[in-house]
Amino acid sequence: MPVILEKKYENNISLAVWQITESHDELQSMLPSEILTDAELAAISHPKKQTEFFCSRLVIKHLANSLGIKYIGIKKDEYGKPYLVDSNWQMSITHTSNYVAAVMHPTEAIGMDMEKPSEKLKRIEHKFLSETEIIEAQNDIEKLCIYWSAKEALYKLYGKRKVIFNKNLHVLPFDKGQKKITGKLIINELNKKYNIYVEEIDGYILVVCGSAPQV
Ligand SMILES: CC(C)(COP(=O)(O)OP(=O)(O)OC[C@H]1O[C@@H](n2cnc3c(N)ncnc32)[C@H](O)[C@@H]1OP(=O)(O)O)[C@@H](O)C(=O)NCCC(=O)NCCS
Repeated sequence: MPVILEKKYENNISLAVWQITESHDELQSMLPSEILTDAELAAISHPKKQTEFFCSRLVIKHLANSLGIKYIGIKKDEYGKPYLVDSNWQMSITHTSNYVAAVMHPTEAIGMDMEKPSEKLKRIEHKFLSETEIIEAQNDIEKLCIYWSAKEALYKLYGKRKVIFNKNLHVLPFDKGQKKITGKLIINELNKKYNIYVEEIDGYILVVCGSAPQV
């Protein structure tokens, strides 16, 4: 699992992206039993899903080591949002067939997603974009993918259900190639802007979202 990208964003968000090159069994042997419990393993039956699970825990282990944080496992809250056991550090994970990536922040909620632009996004754009965003996206699959990933990342940052993508999640107009864009989460009592950082890796769009730095 070579790390192909590791960086720190302006707001203390640390990112690591790994390329998956090992077999299922090699990956499993890299995880100590206190991090990968028998109960967790038993809960995932499909070998491909197990591989994704191993990779995501290994990338978090790698980031935690680089940041000098104790990592003793990940649990999930009632909505499925992952958190580090016995730590205030916040995290988010994404996996694709070839890559797994994670972000961590000392205190604030963060979110991330990694997707490949696909024609399918054109068919479902009305489900996740507002009227204004549909006009802005111009039927361009790369822009649509940035909108989609940004909204998935905002969803993960928020972490709760009952989020309507074309109503509660907003992405302000941006140009292709722009590395930092703005997202908004408007739900219940919350109305907040977030920075969204965009990377392109091997034909995939990777986005990371977190609070804007305090000035
Ligand atoms: C949960 C969800 C965000 C996962 O995204 P995905 O693209 O399928 O998969 P990814 O690989 O990017 O992310 C998977 C990770 O998301 C994380 N995740 C799952 N539920 C989460 C939640 N409620 N909050 C934050 N993170 C969550 C998990 O860490 C998971 O990895 P793990 O199982 O190894 O721990 C997605 O399946 C989902 O439910 N999206 C919102 C639903 C929706 O309404 N979408 C369409 C609107 S039109």
